[in-house]
Amino acid sequence: MSKTLIAPSILAADFGNLQRDIEMVNNSEADWFHLDIMDGVFVPNISYGMPIISTINKHATKTLDAHLMIVDPDRYIKVFAKLGVDYLTVHYEACTHLHRTLQAIKAEGMKAGVALNPHTNVSVLEDTIQDIDLVLIMSVNPGFGGQSFIENTYAKVEKLKNLILQKNASTLIEVDGGVTNKNAKKIADAGADALVAGSYIFRSENPTETIKNMSELLK
Ligand code: DX5
Ligand code: ZN
Repeated sequence: MSKTLIAPSILAADFGNLQRDIEMVNNSEADWFHLDIMDGVFVPNISYGMPIISTINKHATKTLDAHLMIVDPDRYIKVFAKLGVDYLTVHYEACTHLHRTLQAIKAEGMKAGVALNPHTNVSVLEDTIQDIDLVLIMSVNPGFGGQSFIENTYAKVEKLKNLILQKNASTLIEVDGGVTNKNAKKIADAGADALVAGSYIFRSENPTETIKNMSELLK
């Protein structure tokens, strides 16, 4: 089994020292940059937009994993491609024509991801799983960092893993929200390929060490 990837969420970074925090991730054992884009409509919060993403792209040396918590994400697919995003993840609940959206993301040369809210059953992806590069399972309700992990997530990850194997798909599973060193190994053992962690990393005294410890746990 390959190593579980760590994706620090920049939402929890210090935006006054953004370059410093990006370089910390560059020089750490983390694998991806997780970018949370919120529009104040799909979720009750607004995060950051194009100028910040462009700054992140300028300094980051690792994969950019963008999580769109916005309505009608099709409007911005081309823009995110130009901004250097590698994985573009849209919410199942925000897409009326999910299959078309996935094709449009791939046509721009990006990997296509689908995020599921805590109430959304993984079975809704039965007919599209072979077209999806990444499924992001929300382990908190989207909109804010620093919330606690929903325990039902383990069962959801296992169910999704079975669906992927059954359909012979190569989809990655990412888990997002409330991830700490206390639950990281158990989430990975359930079948997750990538873990997002925001406040646990950036609010710690030594983020580089925190990432290193998490990466040790996941070996
Ligand atoms: C929540 C976001 C998460 C968030 C995770 O809407 O999708 O990526 O930044 O933050 P923590 O790790 O603090 O729960
Ligand atoms: Zn996220």
